[in-house]
Amino acid sequence: MNFQLTEEQDMLRKMVRDFAKNDVEPTAAERDEEERFDRGIFDKMAELGLTGIPWPEEYGGIGADYVSYVIAVEELSRVCASTGVTLSAHLSLASWPIYKYGNEEQKKNFLYRLATGEALGAYALSEPGAGSDVASMKTVAVKDHDDYILNGNKVWITNGGVADLYLVFAKTNPDAKHKGVSAFIVEKGTEGFSFGKKEKKLGIRSSPTTELVFENCRVPKENMLGAEGDGFKIAMSTLDGGRNGIAAQAVGIAQGALDAAVEYAKGREQFGKPIATNQGISFKLADMATAIEASRLLTYQAAWLESNDLPYGKASAMSKLFAGDTAMQVTTEAVQVFGGYGYTKDYPVERYMRDAKITQIYEGTNEIQRLVIGRMLTK
Ligand code: CAA
Ligand code: FAD
Repeated sequence: MNFQLTEEQDMLRKMVRDFAKNDVEPTAAERDEEERFDRGIFDKMAELGLTGIPWPEEYGGIGADYVSYVIAVEELSRVCASTGVTLSAHLSLASWPIYKYGNEEQKKNFLYRLATGEALGAYALSEPGAGSDVASMKTVAVKDHDDYILNGNKVWITNGGVADLYLVFAKTNPDAKHKGVSAFIVEKGTEGFSFGKKEKKLGIRSSPTTELVFENCRVPKENMLGAEGDGFKIAMSTLDGGRNGIAAQAVGIAQGALDAAVEYAKGREQFGKPIATNQGISFKLADMATAIEASRLLTYQAAWLESNDLPYGKASAMSKLFAGDTAMQVTTEAVQVFGGYGYTKDYPVERYMRDAKITQIYEGTNEIQRLVIGRMLTK
């Protein structure tokens, strides 16, 4: 067993940390306030190779591993959780399934464009009546000669509106629950595909979350990923890895909040001494740091398992569950350490606390992670 990062992983961490500090953090609060997505940040990530971290060079990637990927999401989220999820949704939700299930032509076209950052990706599974219960989705795709005609609505889509390629799940056989779902790659600008409501959110406000509307949207059959009826399996196996990306986001948010809390506790004086010298505060910081380290280890372990072609679904559900709960606890405590100042926008901890909440909800709520883990334990 070796807990040391490789030289490449360590170098990537330093590179992303510098990029996050210089190019992402300075505008994080302002983008949050204005609910503004910045495509320029994504373009810079592409220049650094971050948009294709785990894919082979022939598909436009940099041929690194999944540990490197989670390190990148962690470091970005340490300063801006919206930027962290932009990369996570692009990479593990939109690109991974094409790498895993795409034919050579789809990889050379769609995956290459995603990996090089020419295109930004999104993953469209959820619907107004089908969130946790994915199989009850209503969007349909009806075969018409060499095309499929899509009709229906997807909601809550991260990178919605700003993404160029959308992985959309629809029923090709509405009577067959799971086995009736198929997956399609839909390009922005396709006739019959438009954007609906953009959500106004509590946190990750510079990551757009948007409704997708399909009205007789004609998609060529070449854009189907896998075979007809493979969609549910593709969606679920994609989430197996995607959830670990959210765990990495949660670790980053929690670490950012702890860093801020430690600095503040050392500088803020009450009763004639820094508040950090009170055991009530230093024990709090110790518990926060310990929970973060445990979350990080679960997250890196799940990524290591995936990199080594070992089963990682349960590990990933556990990392997401534990790291998401940790992020919520740690950021709440960070606001507490700051006292009244933590409740204002003068310091970043209120943003971390608002951002942390989503890590318990998306890519399967933490109740659903417990359901997934429980089923794996007892099956
Ligand atoms: N990999 C491959 N196949 C899988 C699988 C997996 N991980 N999980 C289930 N399956 C297969 C099963 O083997 C089963 O196949 P058979 O019919 O051949 O036996 C089939 O799928 C049905 O499985 P279940 O009976 O377990 O399905 P279910 O209807 O009970 O649902 C669930 C299971 C885990 C609750 C699932 O619906 C789920 O994950 N819900 C949460 C949805 C979710 O996470 N959404 C995230 C949207 S993306 C997002 O939020 C983006 C963002 O954060 C940025
Ligand atoms: P519901 O499924 O209605 O759940 C409501 C409550 O009931 C939750 O607490 C849930 O845990 C609980 N519950 C439901 N079923 C059970 C059960 N069997 N046992 C115990 N408790 C249960 N989706 C995408 O497809 N793509 C995206 O890019 C995407 N990005 C998102 C970004 C944001 C900001 C948000 C808020 C959501 C995003 N989602 C996305 C959707 C997200 O995955 C869903 O919101 C989530 O899966 C929960 O579904 P729901 O909101 O319909 O809640």
